[in-house]
Amino acid sequence: MAEYDYDVLVIGAGPGGYVAAIRAAQLGLKVACAEGRETLGGTCLNVGCIPSKALLHGSEKFDEAVNGTFAHYGIKTGPVELDLGAMQAQKLDSVKSLTGGIEFLFKKNKVTWLKGYASFKDAHSVDVAGQTVTARNVVIATGSSVTPLPGVPVDNDAGVIVDSTGALALDRVPANMVVIGGGVIGLELGSVWRRLGAKVTVVEFLDQLLPGMDGDVRKEAAKIFKKQGMELKLSTKVTGAVVKDGKATLTLEPAAGGAAETLEADCVLVAIGRRPNVDGLGLDKIGLALNKRGQIETDHDFATTVPGVWAIGDVIPGPMLAHKAEDEGIAVAENIAGLTGIVNHDVIPGVVYTFPEFAGVGLTEEAAKEKGDIKVGKFPMLANSRAKTNHEPDGFVKIISDAKTDRVLGVWAIASVAGTMIAQAAQAMEFGATSEDIAYTCHAHPTHSEAIKEAAMAVTGKPIHM
Ligand code: FAD
Ligand code: NAI
Repeated sequence: MAEYDYDVLVIGAGPGGYVAAIRAAQLGLKVACAEGRETLGGTCLNVGCIPSKALLHGSEKFDEAVNGTFAHYGIKTGPVELDLGAMQAQKLDSVKSLTGGIEFLFKKNKVTWLKGYASFKDAHSVDVAGQTVTARNVVIATGSSVTPLPGVPVDNDAGVIVDSTGALALDRVPANMVVIGGGVIGLELGSVWRRLGAKVTVVEFLDQLLPGMDGDVRKEAAKIFKKQGMELKLSTKVTGAVVKDGKATLTLEPAAGGAAETLEADCVLVAIGRRPNVDGLGLDKIGLALNKRGQIETDHDFATTVPGVWAIGDVIPGPMLAHKAEDEGIAVAENIAGLTGIVNHDVIPGVVYTFPEFAGVGLTEEAAKEKGDIKVGKFPMLANSRAKTNHEPDGFVKIISDAKTDRVLGVWAIASVAGTMIAQAAQAMEFGATSEDIAYTCHAHPTHSEAIKEAAMAVTGKPIHM
């Protein structure tokens, strides 16, 4: 009889866990994956990336139909109506087909889905829904959940104060919505409901939106969202909320302290960050300590301090992004199988899927300057022929390179398709490209991506179209 039931037991079937399970099975290992949720795919497929993008896409189409954009192209529309039920139904269709797709891939790759929440008994045995399962290796991929805001209790069923999960499932368009947190979720879901008709106010603790992004990008983001009709209350904190008769009254204060004011809303979205899921895992039973931020620390191979126990995705340090979790899933499976699995954490793109999209990879200008001398090239989308033709004037591409070697250190883009454009920048950086390499790469015309080439030319001061 085998020493363990499985070679690998993965806890959590999000983008980190399901990818780790599939890759480990592809490498010939006997694999099980424990997932407590009814469907596979984790936060990303069920209540994150996919449903949010389904509503962003649908609401963008609606916005185009009602706000006069079509008129640019000589398209006349009659009265446009929103069928929110149908928009929510197409969202659920996308979610269902993708989560079902993972179930199919598990069967195809012979990954056993253990239904239930897992808790360690010791480093090689785990309890899943009352059954003990043993494994030579256990990968923790339990992801993250919404960070609560004291004094502002979320109740997704009531639909007045909601988190991202509640904001993805509203059955009515609120007349006015207050978003607490001007980060990725606040701006994406705030955009959805603004496009569908809500008056949206974003309350952000810091003096700019989108922490972590390049300073120029953050400044431009504030201008763009204001132009779209969002009200921004920067350097402001919410200190409490009272819900009465289906409305919330929030108490706001300047972040630095000062006189309080109140703000009424039909709906409040709390989006102040996410925290790792570690409760109930029984980490004390295996002697695995957390860092100060409640995360599980690993080495470069994604091994924890407990032999045989590994961790990946949102539960470990680094950006909380699906593609980062997926790449770590592949790497950890390869390391367990005795291969060399590596993730280059310096080159992980990030994208905010609003209109326009905000994307970046590598260092911000501020961080690059702290490391040494740099050169910067910038090119406005207004001068890009395709963006101009499509009536998409907002945004720019910015390339930061090392002053001595010209090696690209960071690329930032605001454009309708910035999320797609940033992939070439990530690839160039992964290959150690200089800005000159990008400038001398032939880009198809007319494409938004030509702005990346021109920004690279601007690093040495010679763009053609500006
Ligand atoms: P998760 O996806 O959180 O999966 C963890 C799984 O583990 C969950 O299904 C959970 O039920 C399960 N689990 C937890 N504890 C246990 C246990 N003890 N036993 C069994 N199962 C357990 N990222 C992007 O890159 N692009 C986007 O566009 C994007 N959009 C987002 C939009 C929203 C609204 C949100 C909330 C997040 C978004 N993200 C996006 C972030 C992305 O969803 C996460 O980074 C990603 O899902 C992390 O993957 P993971 O595998 O680490 O964890
Ligand atoms: P976030 O970290 O992006 O933004 C949270 C914002 O809230 C910050 O700007 C912060 O300064 C602010 N804040 C914190 N406390 C506050 C307070 N008390 N009052 C007012 N503002 C406060 O977190 P968010 O938007 O909740 O997203 C969580 C994670 O999900 C992100 O780390 C992101 O990586 C991931 N995500 C990724 C998406 C994508 O890749 N497109 C989309 C949605 C989420």
